[in-house]
Amino acid sequence: MSSHVCILGIAGSLRRGSYNQAALRAAKLLVPENSEIDLFPLDDIPMFNEDDEKRPPSSVLELKKRIRRADALLIVTPEYNYSIPGVLKNALDWACRPHDRRCFPRPGAVPMGASPGAIGTARAQCHLRQILAALTLFALNQPEVVIANAAHRFDEIGNLIHEPTKQLIRELLKNLVDWTRRISPALARRIKELTRGLNCYSFQKLSF
Ligand code: FNR
Repeated sequence: MSSHVCILGIAGSLRRGSYNQAALRAAKLLVPENSEIDLFPLDDIPMFNEDDEKRPPSSVLELKKRIRRADALLIVTPEYNYSIPGVLKNALDWACRPHDRRCFPRPGAVPMGASPGAIGTARAQCHLRQILAALTLFALNQPEVVIANAAHRFDEIGNLIHEPTKQLIRELLKNLVDWTRRISPALARRIKELTRGLNCYSFQKLSF
């Protein structure tokens, strides 16, 4: 039987009634067999301060622990001013510091996002992919889950009601789980060993 895969799911919105939190909840129900999505809300994560990175607050320690325990990441981002919200960037900044205690255990991640507009977070997801590269996470490219016109894709209590979107999310998660199983755990361990104490720039020069 294939190994169990645990995906940590993070949504970059604190808003009650958030479409992105709703999309994350929907994803939780669409995971492939023998995998799960563990949700981590960002409400209690304070603003990053480099002075505190070696002794972070308990909410940040918990976030890092949950990322470390996960096999892969699903990041659901709103689009704010063509980019990702500060709330999400702030959490990723905490998680990657200090360099020698980065907590990304295995390199797989996928972005998705929802917005009421026509672009469906495509621009924010481009920025998010750039950030994932700095964190030495490999973001799978296909399918791109950009949920436009969110008011018509979710009902009034936040259930995803658009079948084609559900199908895209299923495919995205299947690709992530398949890929995570292929690279784990041997390659993941190797990446961890090779990158211990290195920053992302030196990481890029390594060959496997
Ligand atoms: C937005 N919104 C937005 N939408 C978009 O498609 N492109 C954008 O650049 C922006 N910019 C933006 C900036 C700020 C500060 C806010 C508060 C909002 C609208 C955004 O997509 C909408 O509020 C979503 O509903 C936010 O996601 P949640 O909270 O529903 O998950």
